[in-house]
Amino acid sequence: MRMEGASRLFAKPRAMTGAEIETVIARFAETAALAEQADFDGVQIHAAHGYLLSQFLSPLTNLRTDGWGGSLENRARLLVEIVRAVRARVSPGFGVGVKLNSSDFQKGGFGAEDAVAVVRMLNDMPVDLVELSGGSYESPAMHGRPAAASTVAREAYFVDFARDVVAEARMPVLVTGGIRRRTTAEAALAPEDGRPGVAMVGLAQALAFAPDLPNRWRAGEAAVEVPGIRWKSRPLASLATMALAKRQLRRMGAGKRPTPRAWAPGVVACDQLRTIWRSRRYRAWLQARRQA
Ligand SMILES: Cc1cc2nc3c(=O)[nH]c(=O)nc-3n(C[C@H](O)[C@H](O)[C@H](O)COP(=O)(O)O)c2cc1C
Repeated sequence: MRMEGASRLFAKPRAMTGAEIETVIARFAETAALAEQADFDGVQIHAAHGYLLSQFLSPLTNLRTDGWGGSLENRARLLVEIVRAVRARVSPGFGVGVKLNSSDFQKGGFGAEDAVAVVRMLNDMPVDLVELSGGSYESPAMHGRPAAASTVAREAYFVDFARDVVAEARMPVLVTGGIRRRTTAEAALAPEDGRPGVAMVGLAQALAFAPDLPNRWRAGEAAVEVPGIRWKSRPLASLATMALAKRQLRRMGAGKRPTPRAWAPGVVACDQLRTIWRSRRYRAWLQARRQA
């Protein structure tokens, strides 16, 4: 991991064995079956943001020389096999979506053309929805692309890429990232210069700071104040962005109103301590379960 000051937060990666890969596929399928049993309407298989499936898709992190690495078809095999295994375990009416990066925004990584090619592979499978995002912990484009020239790209980071994907996709495409205003959402849904719009938009931070935003939009244009973190280290700024939004969720859970006002370094420190404490508690629980 190349994350400036925050690399130490992550363990050193190693190559998985074939047996571990098969276990991962089985565990995704088992989890989807449990979600259906628990009465959820669907699951989303997360293949974006530098997590495991996104690592398999990227030629920067997937250095395998077996059937799980090399060509894009091989790098996408784990995702495709997981979709197949999940579908085999759930009923036909249960929704199965995939979250995919439009690009990793890393030189030599998974790019926009790869994303279109993977969506073409998913076209032949019963996938109900593709959500497009972008970036990873190392290159956190999901929390804004400072180099973006146009206002649209600054406000709805991946809409431009999404239009190329929509043109190829047989399933509905959803785009998430940077949407705060009703007009931005409407622009993403509308065609532009002969290129199609997306079917849906996703909102994360905007709803953490204004959970009633859809109602406010319905009543007219409404601004939501989402604090922008302008730290030099983008990975650290991304951690702070998440920590501030999580704080709002905790506040609402405790019956308080969200507030954009907070001292970001303090919120990040508390969030990290909380994560360390929770991880320790989880590891102890796992250990006790293994021994029982
Ligand atoms: C509180 C919070 C938690 C998030 N957790 C995750 C996560 O676990 N995994 C992930 O890939 N993205 C996560 N995200 C990123 C969002 O899915 C989304 O891509 C990003 O926030 C950009 O959308 P936005 O501009 O609407 O916030 C999280 C975002 C927030 C605000």
